[in-house]
Amino acid sequence: MLERMNHTMHEETRQGEAIAPFVNDPNAYNKKFYIESYGCAMNFADSEVVASILNENGFGATRNFEEADLILINTCSIREKAEQTVRKRLTELRKVKKINSGALIGVLGCMAERLKAQFLEEEKLVDMVVGPDAYRSLPGLITEAETGQKAVNVLLSREETYADISPIRLNTNGVSGFVSIMRGCNNMCSFCVVPFTRGRERSRDPHSIVGECTDLFNNGYREVTLLGQNVDSYYWTPESSTTGQPVTFANLLEMVALIDPALRIRFSTSHPKDITDDVLFTMAKYENICKYIHLPVQSGSTRVLQLMNRTYTREWYMAKVDRILEIMPDCGISSDIIAGFCTETEEDHQDTLSIMRHSKYDMSYMFFYSERPGTLAARRYKDDIPEDVKKRRLAEIVKLQNALSHESNLKDLGKTFKVLIEGNSKRSDQDWMGRTSQNKVLVFPKEQYDLNKGNYVMVKVTECTVATLIGKIEP
Ligand code: SAH
Ligand code: SF4
Ligand code: F3S
Repeated sequence: MLERMNHTMHEETRQGEAIAPFVNDPNAYNKKFYIESYGCAMNFADSEVVASILNENGFGATRNFEEADLILINTCSIREKAEQTVRKRLTELRKVKKINSGALIGVLGCMAERLKAQFLEEEKLVDMVVGPDAYRSLPGLITEAETGQKAVNVLLSREETYADISPIRLNTNGVSGFVSIMRGCNNMCSFCVVPFTRGRERSRDPHSIVGECTDLFNNGYREVTLLGQNVDSYYWTPESSTTGQPVTFANLLEMVALIDPALRIRFSTSHPKDITDDVLFTMAKYENICKYIHLPVQSGSTRVLQLMNRTYTREWYMAKVDRILEIMPDCGISSDIIAGFCTETEEDHQDTLSIMRHSKYDMSYMFFYSERPGTLAARRYKDDIPEDVKKRRLAEIVKLQNALSHESNLKDLGKTFKVLIEGNSKRSDQDWMGRTSQNKVLVFPKEQYDLNKGNYVMVKVTECTVATLIGKIEP
């Protein structure tokens, strides 16, 4: 995933760093756009679709917002903090108007969808508000905004998947790419704003998915992450029932796995209620489907899970973890956890800690509950856990996760893993950084070997920290 700070207790763990695209031949376009993305990998993938639409319409990318004619910010609403981050950044970005009075500012993504035209009243310097299903209308909205009018399109769609648009890869390492396989979410987790900002669930045509993954492979990519809010409920039916069979997520995984054994496949996110044995057996069958499942638990208390509308119990979740490990004993598992949901007692909190121990998560994204306007929880329950209690519980969760991550890494000492090299390590260009199938970061010296990013290499783990494995190439 795009998250970079795994083991912190910062609330904005899922806030990706802002990205700016590389400059693609600036002379080929009359105008320049700058785009920054926040939130989950879906948003980052959407920005690549937006870049493609803009390229087709005469806009080239720039990394420097001060020289842009069009500034876009792709926003996230998942927690209040995520929205605050965007508002702060907007006050920076709007300085562009002092340099170039004709420059336009557009707000895309989940905040645009949540706040709609209200955004224009709150932030006077914003010219366009465009929801996640309305990116095809961007060229028209830009024309409208250029005449000095405010432009808004926040219509959600039941069909839009942008299947036919080839994303322009932004800030990529050239090794791993994200491919959106579905949009929206039909679950109604009571804490979550996503069903309101992303609309109904719909699956993308599998042939266009395989086509995009094949293109990535042919361009040197060696890993694709299939993206959706709930990938296990992927389900595509051909328009005419006489031609072809429906495609499930397990079928899709297999189709992508068969592109080439040298292309690794990851996916995110799985809802525990929907991940089937079929998916697990397909993962086990193909070496190139990574042995790693992000399986957000949210809480370990059945009572809280019910209030959250997660539709599984503590026992059911634990049985699912056991089943995964029965079919794939070496599978990595990670989670999302919310501390301090409405009415959470100390006992509920202890249940969360104990389910973490049971699941032995390799990693978790941990948050304290942030009430979102309009959600079921906001309407039905009081946000009644004091902030200091939320923070203390979150700190305990983070502390336990660090211990679990460390234990999990210690178990890997002495083992040899197949690693896909992603690039230089952050600390030194004498070291490579790559990932194991289980999604653990492994850093190792380049030594005399003639390797490059995108290559696979066998690496033996010799040391570890809480967050990283350190190793040596097996000759
Ligand atoms: N579709 C994914 C999650 C998307 S949101 C899934 O179902 O697993 C990512 C994570 O943000 C969630 O798993 C949850 O842990 C967290 N989250 C969502 N809404 C939140 C809220 N109101 N307060 C705190 N954390 C929240
Ligand atoms: Fe939100 Fe639940 Fe849908 Fe995930 S599955 S996006 S948490 S409503
Ligand atoms: Fe945020 Fe929207 Fe993703 S709310 S987490 S950007 S789907």
